[in-house]
Amino acid sequence: MNQQMKQLSRLFLLGVVTFNMAACNTAKVESAPPGISPQVMADSLHAVMEADRTVYTKWIVNRLQNEEKVIKASEHWKDDKALVLPAQMFRMGAERVAESGKVSFSYSLISLWPVNKQNEPKTEAEKTGLAEINKTGKSYYTEETLGGKKYFTALYPDIAVAPACYSCHNDHKDSPKTDFKLGDVMGGVVIRIPLGT
Ligand code: HEC
Repeated sequence: MNQQMKQLSRLFLLGVVTFNMAACNTAKVESAPPGISPQVMADSLHAVMEADRTVYTKWIVNRLQNEEKVIKASEHWKDDKALVLPAQMFRMGAERVAESGKVSFSYSLISLWPVNKQNEPKTEAEKTGLAEINKTGKSYYTEETLGGKKYFTALYPDIAVAPACYSCHNDHKDSPKTDFKLGDVMGGVVIRIPLGT
């Protein structure tokens, strides 16, 4: 083989290797899992929210206020030197997430019987979703377009997991419903994930 032929065959070999590597990479991408679906993401986020909310209510509010009677939970927690309400804890978390500017999803707590009128359902998806989860006790998923943007919207039942939940709402002067009991759906958690971004 002369020098030129050697050079050519080396180039050919390089070409084959490069082509094979590219083919392998493509095959790898194609066989990789397609990423997290909006529903799996919403379900995972909700699992964390629900766990934190239950732990705070059961082991901080219910234990210290309702059982041990050591300290109360109050809307005016700062002035009253009291525990933050579970709904306030939830909202403060949601606000911190929004302020972080690092993520594009949002979440909130709403109800058909809100103590705070600001927590009423506003969009059609929220109204239908709340009615559905109250009926079925299961999560509800839909898509909605708000301000020209498309969202995956999930609603999850917010359950009276401890006596502190229903006793506080039933006794509250602004509560439109006064017969909540343990295990009832008291409202819903809405999680909104933007689509196509
Ligand atoms: C000590 C009183 C208290 C306790 C305990 C409490 N809540 Fe509330 N909850 C409130 C008040 C007051 C609001 C409105 C607060 C706000 O929006 O700032 C509220 C808000 C909510 C909302 C949003 C709709 C609304 O009523 O405004 C839901 C849903 C809710 N609570 C469910 C629960 C559940 C479930 C638990 C137990 C895990 C619970 N709450 C524990 C007093 C309480």
